[in-house]
Order: sequence, then C-alpha cells, then structure tokens
Amino acid sequence: MKIVLTGSGGQVGSALAPALASLGEVSAFDRRSLDLLDSQSIRSTVADIKPDVIVNAAAYTTVDRAEKEEELAFRINAHAVKELAHAAANIDALLIHFSTDFVFDGEKRAPYVESDRPAPLNVYGHSKLAGERKIGESGCRHFIFRTSWVYGPAGRNFLYAILAAAKTKPELRVVDDQRGAPTSSDAIAGSVVQILANPDISKKASGIYHLNAAGETTWHGFATAILQGKGIKIPVQAIRSDEYPVAAKRPKNSLLDNTKLGATFGIALPDWRQGMATVLAAIH
Ligand SMILES: NC(=O)c1ccc[n+]([C@@H]2O[C@H](COP(=O)([O-])OP(=O)(O)OC[C@H]3O[C@@H](n4cnc5c(N)ncnc54)[C@H](OP(=O)(O)O)[C@@H]3O)[C@@H](O)[C@H]2O)c1
Repeated sequence: MKIVLTGSGGQVGSALAPALASLGEVSAFDRRSLDLLDSQSIRSTVADIKPDVIVNAAAYTTVDRAEKEEELAFRINAHAVKELAHAAANIDALLIHFSTDFVFDGEKRAPYVESDRPAPLNVYGHSKLAGERKIGESGCRHFIFRTSWVYGPAGRNFLYAILAAAKTKPELRVVDDQRGAPTSSDAIAGSVVQILANPDISKKASGIYHLNAAGETTWHGFATAILQGKGIKIPVQAIRSDEYPVAAKRPKNSLLDNTKLGATFGIALPDWRQGMATVLAAIH
C-alpha cells in the first residue's frame, strides 16, 4: 500500500508517520515539504506518487487566531482539502481526513452522532465543516474522522500547557462547564492503522465517522487528572467559560458518539484516562 501523509509535523501526523509504516510505503510531508497553500504542489505530489491512500493530518488549528484569520483558515481547511479530494478522485485513492467536534454548537445533551445537524460557533469550526463538504462533493472515496480534544507527546496541547502552568503558578483556574473526551494522538493513529489494515476496507461506505476516546470529563477534570498522574500537588479551581475569555466561542458539549465507528470497523477506543496515562508515562 502506498500512502501519502500530510501534516507529518503535527500532533496526529507525527503519531501517524511511524504507525502507518506498518502498512506499506509512506511518503510523509510536513509543511516545509508540502505546503497546502500551494495547490499545484498538492496536484503534482499526488499525481507523481499515485498513492492508494492519502491521509491528511494537516490543518489550520489555531482556533482563537482563526477569528482574525478567516481567509487563511478556509484556504487550508477547505480549499486545500478540496484540492486533495479532487487529486484523490483523479487516481481513485482513498482520502482519510480529520474533522472536529467544533462543527457542533454543543447544545445537545447527549453525545453527538454523525447525522446531527452541524452548527459551528466559531470560524475554525466553519472552516472544518466547509472542508468536510468539499470532500463529499468531490466524489472521492473517503473517511472523515471527527475527533476532539486532541493531545499527545508531540506538539502544543492542553496537557503540556497545564504541566507548564503548574511550574510557575501557585494555583490553576480551569474551565469546568465544557464536556469532552480527551483523545490521544496515538489512539487516533492506532485506530486509523487498524481501519486501513481491514481486508474489507474497500466495502466500507465513504462518509463521516466519530472517533474519540471513551468516557468523558471537563477541562477541569482533565487538568486535575494530569496533575495527579504526575504527582503534582497544586490547587485547581473550577471556573465557568465566561471567567476565561477567549476569542473563539467553544461548544459546551464536545462528546462524540462512536457507535457508527464500532459497528463499521469493529473499533473501540480506550477510556481517555488510559490514553492520558500512556502519554504521561512517555514524557518527562
Ligand atoms: N487539536 C485538537 O484538539 C483537534 C480536535 C479535533 C480535531 N482536530 C483535527 O485533527 C487533525 C490533526 O490536528 P492536530 O491536533 O494534529 O493539529 P496540529 O498539531 O496543529 O497539526 C497540524 C499540522 O498541519 C500543519 N499545517 C498547517 N498549515 C499547513 C499548510 N499550509 N501546509 C501544510 N501543513 C500545514 C501544521 O504545521 P505547522 O506546525 O508548521 O503549523 C501542523 O504540523 C486536524 O484536522 C484537526 O482539525 C484536532
């Protein structure tokens, strides 16, 4: 199997690069070697390599900055995704793409299923939803995995932010009115490899699948668990979202229901606490 991976320098991309190698020949591109703002490079890279699978782990992910960089967010999360999807369609490659819980407004009480109506609250969410739709319109074979609250041993993320803050502050204040399932980049990469290794993969229907860790918590719960996991004793005060102003509004409920993923691919992600313990054990 020939695989093109984009965004190999990101959290999910850097977990995918070694994991995908078990499936075949991986051509991994970071932003320097394949800039998604360059449509011609996307087309020529895909046409030259003729991969069986394109895994797009690249994205514009700075959620708050997107409120001021709408055009850039859409160029990367929608226009470039359209280019990748058309390039995949031209050679009948399978496109694997990642999207987000931020396509929803978070008003639902239960975990979101794939058929729930998207209603993004912020520019990033709108740009990611536009990317999903461009893939659907392209006619390429595809799986779009919506995931949430991603962290891992590589990259900038909440887990590192909490550990860094705990070194300099006497107490932390963390939002406790947003629910979600922190999902490790390794769990995402492992799931994608399992899915691609399925001998019946060509019979699986293109579409959107929710893929996040089992269980649920809040950012406050996640922060508390991170500190406990590292044996750091520091008070963590629970606050409301409106006490921590940020540029982009976030959904109150980010939980994604994985039932379709399990029924289609036979995959169940472990509880978020298990993923967190593995990442904490891997970092110093
Ligand atoms: N992080 C989350 O909490 C979260 C939640 C739900 C869904 N997702 C989705 O999951 C996927 C992976 O996210 P992640 O957490 O791994 O994000 P990430 O760590 O920010 O990685 C994204 C990668 O894309 C690269 N990139 C940005 N602009 C590019 C361009 N013009 N050309 C080529 N590469 C470019 C970035 O390069 P630089 O490092 O050079 O900027 C970075 O390496 C994305 O589709 C994201 O939307 C993430």
